[in-house]
Amino acid sequence: MAMLIDGKKISSQIKDEIKAEVLTLKEKGEEVTLAVVLVGEDPASQVYVRNKKRACEYVGIKSLSFELPAETTQEELLLLVEKLNHDPAVNGILVQLPLPSHIDEDAVIKAIDPNKDVDGFHPMSVGALSIGQKGYVSCTPAGIIELMKRSGIEMDGKHCVIVGRSNIVGKPMAMLMLRENATVTVTHSHTKNLKEITKQADILIVAIGRAKFITADYVKDQAVVIDVGMDHDENGKLCGDVDFDSVQKVAGAITPVPGGVGPMTIAMLMKNCLTSLELK
Ligand code: GUN
Repeated sequence: MAMLIDGKKISSQIKDEIKAEVLTLKEKGEEVTLAVVLVGEDPASQVYVRNKKRACEYVGIKSLSFELPAETTQEELLLLVEKLNHDPAVNGILVQLPLPSHIDEDAVIKAIDPNKDVDGFHPMSVGALSIGQKGYVSCTPAGIIELMKRSGIEMDGKHCVIVGRSNIVGKPMAMLMLRENATVTVTHSHTKNLKEITKQADILIVAIGRAKFITADYVKDQAVVIDVGMDHDENGKLCGDVDFDSVQKVAGAITPVPGGVGPMTIAMLMKNCLTSLELK
């Protein structure tokens, strides 16, 4: 049976460390403020935003909430971003995605001051990551690295196979695993013989958004399996991209859904809010 990688426990430890750091900063008269922008009423986004604000409250980071109607124009949103860019009291800006279809997401991300880009989505942040320079790192992949480090999983020299090439997870994940000296293969929907490749992975990271897609026959004996999926099974129950029940019998270590990667994303967002003070 695979070792369970407990993201809930590890993320709680991280949040407690951040809470202590925020307290020390407060004693020195420094406050950390995150502006959270939500456009429209997407129920999943509302839950994510609520959880992010709750985490801020827990660690002592001030959160400013901007909840705008779905009809908000791109110009109105860009004006708000510009205002927050210039507000010296705001350290980090987070615009929850997805945005309504009449708004160009890339234009909004590009408008955020790179020094306040706590999501790590700005082209400057992504570029800095690719060439190993200082900057914000996208929270989910950063959380996965932290999860493995704190679980004693060696990455140096290992073959890491990533399934999925999204801008938020797959691509930055590849860059971070390279930074950890892993050998990296990125697979995607056009990859031929996917199973032959995933079976070579010492570390298999799956982020494709397809419920229980990765079954035991995709996994090498004793591999580390990281599941980024947040899907629903045939009964509407929350599950990941990995078929946990079958894969846990062959893997050496595995993250559950829920309680694996998910809670780490928010913990890393809090960490990025602290980084904002260094970049200020
Ligand atoms: N939508 C889904 N995940 C994320 C995230 O990490 N940040 C933002 N801003 N939007 C998201």
